[in-house]
Amino acid sequence: MSTNRQDRGKWGSRVGFIFAAAGSAIGLGNIWRFPYVAGENGGAAFVFLYIIFVIIIGVPVMISELAIGRYTEKNPVGAFRLLAPKSWWPALGMLGVFTGIGILSFYSVVAGWTLGYFVKTILGEFSGEITTGNLEVIYNTFVGNPVAVIIYSFIFISITALVVQGGVSEGIERWAKILMPFLFALLILLTLRSITLEGGAEGIRTYLLPDFSKVRAATFGKALGQALFSLSLGMGTMITYGSYMSKKENLVTAAGYVCFFDTLIAILAGLMIFPAVTANNLSMGEGPGLVFKVIPAIFSRMFGGHIFGAGFFLLLAIAALTSTISLLEVPVAYLVDERHWKRTNAVLLMAAAAFLLSIPSSLSFMSGGFFANIPVLKMKFLAFMNIIMGNYSLAIGSFFIALFVGARWGTGMIRSDFTENRLSPVVYNIWRFLIRFVCPIAILAIFIYIIVSGDYA
Ligand code: PHE
Repeated sequence: MSTNRQDRGKWGSRVGFIFAAAGSAIGLGNIWRFPYVAGENGGAAFVFLYIIFVIIIGVPVMISELAIGRYTEKNPVGAFRLLAPKSWWPALGMLGVFTGIGILSFYSVVAGWTLGYFVKTILGEFSGEITTGNLEVIYNTFVGNPVAVIIYSFIFISITALVVQGGVSEGIERWAKILMPFLFALLILLTLRSITLEGGAEGIRTYLLPDFSKVRAATFGKALGQALFSLSLGMGTMITYGSYMSKKENLVTAAGYVCFFDTLIAILAGLMIFPAVTANNLSMGEGPGLVFKVIPAIFSRMFGGHIFGAGFFLLLAIAALTSTISLLEVPVAYLVDERHWKRTNAVLLMAAAAFLLSIPSSLSFMSGGFFANIPVLKMKFLAFMNIIMGNYSLAIGSFFIALFVGARWGTGMIRSDFTENRLSPVVYNIWRFLIRFVCPIAILAIFIYIIVSGDYA
């Protein structure tokens, strides 16, 4: 399909849109972040809260973002300018633009690690008898080497920039459609291997049998943040993607599919990781290194594991790519639509900004380095960005998006998306109730709970 450069672009087909949106949603959030955050926060109890938040907050906010985007055919800033001129609402779009750069900056560091691990696997670093101790050393040495990490994230941001430069249907959509199914197949294969590992039962138990005594204020905040992060909500990604959607499509069912697949992949990733954690005597609270220590342990015990392992890291990098594309697309769409920049210049500037901001995250794992333990905050720079940009900013964004649709724009604007598509009015009423009351109140309650208990991170 040829895209007129003057044109903002459109998805080539309905399936294309679902793949692109699912490509944005499915990424490191599902496979890297979900298992380790779940592990640190009590396993099954966290997973339970996570699923609840996907249903009562994720799905309704996703429908709202897509609707705003499709109605306005604009980036988040432009969308709010159009729907609420001369008000503060466009600032909500700006928050999304900044959050996009912020998330992209630390996300591409971890995405760079996946490239590094792909190379390591190919070079045979994980072949032979591999022990937990070895995996630990390999991981620490790799992430502690800033030069390699910075180079890998630079490569990653550059690839992202190239695809985004290619535009909507030729770049983003084509990649997502071809590659996502492979990731899914490989995930199933590795899960099957993992759950049959000796010593894995303990991990499955931690993952599936909730222990609610482990739930603290921060657990709520993290489960909510994780749900929004994983679904790419709260910063206008879905407003931007919705803006390339045709009016003919049913955005309610599209949102349903995307949320369903995203959650399915996260749950599967947990099922792949947790048994292998206990089978290899790793700890649940392993932190951001979890996947990178566990995956090589799984494939080192598989026939032809070498190839599966390399394939896995490559596909994980690609899943990350379809997400970084959507992160970069938000600020780029803002510059192109609102400031009339050339797409190329917008891509260059925003990618450069994300790269500069990624450097302190890259330096976060250098032992004894400044960014490895920032004074006062007492945490790694990457962890700080992860919490501020990947949790709080998305939660604040989602809160105001719900408020905007519920109180300012009006839910009636989205009504026809339900009724014209033969969905029963009951579904519309449920959505309306969730977006007007449940979403804002639940998010606010979690913030208050966190502030009152002082349990921030
Ligand atoms: N949802 C992506 C993931 O799970 C990350 C992301 C967050 C992408 C916010 C876009 C916007 O990996």
